[in-house]
Parts: sequence; C-alpha cells; structure tokens
Amino acid sequence: MLFHHLLFLSLVSAFCLITLASGAPVLPESEVEALKEIAKRLGKRDWNFSVDPCSKEESWVAVAANPEDILKNVTCNCSFSNGTVCHVVSIILKSESLPGTLPPELTRLSFLQQIDLTRNYLSGGIPPEWSSLPLINITLLGNRLTGTIPKDLAKITTLKSLVLEFNQLSGDLPPELGNLPSIERLLLTSNNFTGELPETFANLTTLKEFRIGDNNFTGQIPNFIQNWTDLTKLFIQGSGLEGPIPSAISALENLTELRISDLNGSDARFPPLSKMTKLKTLILRSCNLIGDIPLDLGKITTLKTLLVYSVFSFPSV
Ligand SMILES: *[C@@H]1O[C@H](CO)[C@@H](O)[C@H](O)[C@H]1NC(C)=O
Ligand SMILES: *[C@@H]1O[C@H](CO)[C@@H](O)[C@H](O)[C@H]1NC(C)=O
Ligand SMILES: *[C@@H]1O[C@H](CO)[C@@H](O)[C@H](O)[C@H]1NC(C)=O
Ligand SMILES: *[C@@H]1O[C@H](CO)[C@@H](O)[C@H](O)[C@H]1NC(C)=O
Ligand SMILES: *[C@@H]1O[C@H](CO)[C@@H](O)[C@H](O)[C@H]1NC(C)=O
Ligand SMILES: *[C@@H]1O[C@H](CO)[C@@H](O)[C@H](O)[C@H]1NC(C)=O
Ligand SMILES: *[C@@H]1O[C@H](CO)[C@@H](O)[C@H](O)[C@H]1NC(C)=O
Ligand SMILES: *[C@@H]1O[C@H](CO)[C@@H](O)[C@H](O)[C@H]1NC(C)=O
Ligand SMILES: *[C@@H]1O[C@H](CO)[C@@H](O)[C@H](O)[C@H]1NC(C)=O
Ligand SMILES: *[C@@H]1O[C@H](CO)[C@@H](O)[C@H](O)[C@H]1NC(C)=O
Ligand SMILES: *[C@@H]1O[C@H](CO)[C@@H](O)[C@H](O)[C@H]1NC(C)=O
Repeated sequence: MLFHHLLFLSLVSAFCLITLASGAPVLPESEVEALKEIAKRLGKRDWNFSVDPCSKEESWVAVAANPEDILKNVTCNCSFSNGTVCHVVSIILKSESLPGTLPPELTRLSFLQQIDLTRNYLSGGIPPEWSSLPLINITLLGNRLTGTIPKDLAKITTLKSLVLEFNQLSGDLPPELGNLPSIERLLLTSNNFTGELPETFANLTTLKEFRIGDNNFTGQIPNFIQNWTDLTKLFIQGSGLEGPIPSAISALENLTELRISDLNGSDARFPPLSKMTKLKTLILRSCNLIGDIPLDLGKITTLKTLLVYSVFSFPSV
C-alpha cells in the first residue's frame, strides 16, 4: 500500500516536472513588442497587453452580430517548436475607426499570413517593407490610403489576394506585379489609378477575380486577358479604359460574372460570349455596342441578370 502511494506521488511529481518544463506555448517577447508598436501606428488603443495576445481574450478576438462582420481577430499558430512557441499569423481589425497609418513594424511578425484592415480611417502609403512577409491575404478596403502600389509587393510570392478597393491610391500599376505567381484576387476598384494595364499582367494566369472599375486607366482592354482562363469575375466599370471589348474574351469560359461599362472609343460589335456557360450576371452598359445581341446568348441557361444598354437593334425572331 505504502509502495503504491509512493509510486503515485513520484508519478505526479514527474508529471509536474514535465509540464513545468514544457509550459504553455508562449508568444516571443519580440512579437509582443511588435504588436505594441503596431497598435501605436494604427491608433489602436484597446488591445489589453496584460493578457497574452494569443489568448483570444475579448480585446484580441471579438465577433460582431453578423458573422461576416468580424471586428477584431488576432490569431496565433502555437504549433511551433513542438507546441512550445506561438507566432501571430493573422490580424483582422475591421470597422474600428482606426485613425493612424499602416505600420512598417508589421515585418517584425515574421510569420504573418493575413492582414485585414477593412473600413478604417487609415491614411498614408502602403509600406514597401511588408514585402518581406509571407503574406497570403492583404485587405485594405475602404480607407484613405494615398500614393502608389509599391513595386516591392511583387516579391510576396505567397500572395493570393490583394484588396485595395475604395482608397485614394494613384499612379500607374507597377509592371512587377505581373510576377506574382499565386495571385487569385486583384481588387482595385474606386481609386485614382492611371496608365495602361502593364503587358506583364499577361502572366497572371492564376487570377480568379479582377476588379478595376472607377479609376483613371488609359488604353484599351488588353487582348491578353484571354490568358486568364481561371477567371470567374471580371469587373471593368468606368475604369477609364477604352473599347472595344476584345473578342479574345470568349476564352474566359469560367466567368460567372462579367461587368463592363462606360468604355470610350469607337463602336464595336457584341463580343462572342456563348462559350461562357457558367455566366450568371452579364452587364455591358455604355460600351458603344452596335448590331444585334447574338441569339446564341440564349444558350447560356445559367444567366440570371442581363443588362445591355446602347445596343443598336434587337434580333427579330
Ligand atoms: C486587462 O486584462 C486584465 C487581466 O485579465 C484585467 O484585469 C484588466 O481589467 C484588463 N484591462 C482592461 C482595460 O480591460
Ligand atoms: C479568427 O481567424 C482565424 C483564422 O484567420 C479563424 O480560424 C477563426 O475562426 C477566427 N475567429 C473568429 C472568432 O472569428
Ligand atoms: C502552424 O504551424 C505549423 C508549423 O509551421 C504548421 O505545420 C501548421 O500547418 C500550422 N497550422 C495552421 C493551422 O496553419
Ligand atoms: C521536437 O521533438 C522531437 C521529438 O521529441 C525532437 O526530436 C525535435 O528536436 C523537437 N524539435 C524542436 C524544434 O524542438
Ligand atoms: C485568405 O482569405 C481567404 C478568403 O477570405 C480565406 O479563405 C483564407 O483562409 C485566408 N487565408 C489566410 C492565411 O488567412
Ligand atoms: C486623381 O489624379 C488626378 C491627376 O493626378 C488629380 O488631378 C485628381 O485630383 C485625383 N483625384 C482623386 C479623387 O484623387
Ligand atoms: C480622373 O482624373 C480627373 C482629372 O485628372 C479627375 O477629375 C477625376 O476625378 C479622376 N477620376 C477618378 C475616378 O479618380
Ligand atoms: C511572363 O513570364 C515569363 C517567364 O517568367 C517571361 O519570360 C515573360 O517575358 C513574361 N511575359 C510578359 C508579357 O511579361
Ligand atoms: C497568352 O495567350 C496567347 C494566345 O493563347 C499565347 O500566345 C501567349 O503565349 C500567352 N501568354 C502568356 C504570358 O501566357
Ligand atoms: C476553369 O477553371 C478550372 C479550374 O480552375 C480549370 O481547370 C479550367 O482549365 C478552366 N477552364 C478553362 C476553359 O480554361
Ligand atoms: C469619354 O467620353 C466622354 C464622353 O464623350 C468624355 O466626357 C470623357 O472625357 C471621355 N473619357 C476619356 C477617359 O477619354
């Protein structure tokens, strides 16, 4: 009996020693300090540094009533070094009225995969320093950002989604972005971008979604969009680009949504779309189209929304 008791005690103490040695996984002090710097730049005042940033305590993770509208979410991966070390992998701060600027200090979170600062009042430029991070998603939608897209962002080979819509960004798109090997979403709507779409964009064959409306681009819709065969959504509304819509667009058989409007330029025939058998929404408004709407459009049985203005005549049946 005594023997059993002793064995039990020594087992308990052995167990305690092991848990003490391994401990709970910790976020390195350098990342905690980085978060403090980042908070200062963003103008974020309510992260509670008395608790572990990876703890999911309510100042670090809070969900809004609508699950689409997550307000804040700092996520760590705590599987590093056999579960002893955490690293911050995602920061989401949506609709928080943040008044500051984008923090170059983000680079000190060297495992960061996602930054989402949707709908704040952030101003200033996009820090080129971010190019050293293994980012997959960058979302800066709905802020007051100015300046150009830094060409260094093209070095982020992991990048799948770059969302910069509804800001005051300007200048030409850097040709270097054509080197992004994994990019799937490039959303640039409602900025003040200028110039032509760079030739190098012909190489963006991984694109699934491309939106560039409400900008000041020049030149024509390029023929090379035919190479974006994975594309499902293409929005070119009031982009500044000129027509005609290239007939090469017919190669985009995976499109579910096609919205083009306000093209300047000469009159053009209705583009061949009959191979787009997955199309649900087709909007071609003020594109200077003349002639008949092709009857074979009727073969697209998935089509739910069709808006075509300024077509000269409808086919007689
Ligand atoms: C921060 O967290 C600590 C520990 O849970 C708590 O005592 C304190 O009230 C919190 N501070 C704020 C401002 O919520
Ligand atoms: C926070 O984000 C992570 C990964 O980005 C996700 O897995 C998790 O469900 C999110 N948590 C909440 C509460 O939204
Ligand atoms: C966390 O990091 C480990 C080590 O790099 C990796 O194997 C694992 O897939 C990551 N977990 C998640 C959910 O990303
Ligand atoms: C993780 O644990 C294994 C087996 O215990 C060990 O061989 C390895 O060195 C450990 N790795 C790290 C990064 O601590
Ligand atoms: C990136 O965003 C997509 C779409 O919102 C999401 O499914 C994915 O989990 C995100 N990736 C990371 C690493 O946060
Ligand atoms: C867009 O850029 C042009 C020329 O650089 C400038 O005159 C105009 O004010 C800008 N518009 C906005 C909305 O920023
Ligand atoms: C385009 O530029 C003109 C003047 O250069 C400016 O008035 C206009 O607001 C710009 N449009 C957009 C969408 O930025
Ligand atoms: C596309 O990428 C290939 C290989 O990197 C390169 O040789 C080619 O010049 C690029 N095309 C364009 C139009 O930039
Ligand atoms: C784009 O498609 C055209 C025609 O199919 C082809 O000749 C060209 O090499 C392609 N370019 C890239 C960069 O894939
Ligand atoms: C449509 O997308 C699928 C999956 O991304 C791809 O395999 C296929 O080649 C695409 N269709 C066309 C016509 O290129
Ligand atoms: C497009 O045409 C309209 C009407 O003719 C004109 O007001 C506008 O300035 C033109 N825009 C460009 C970018 O040429």
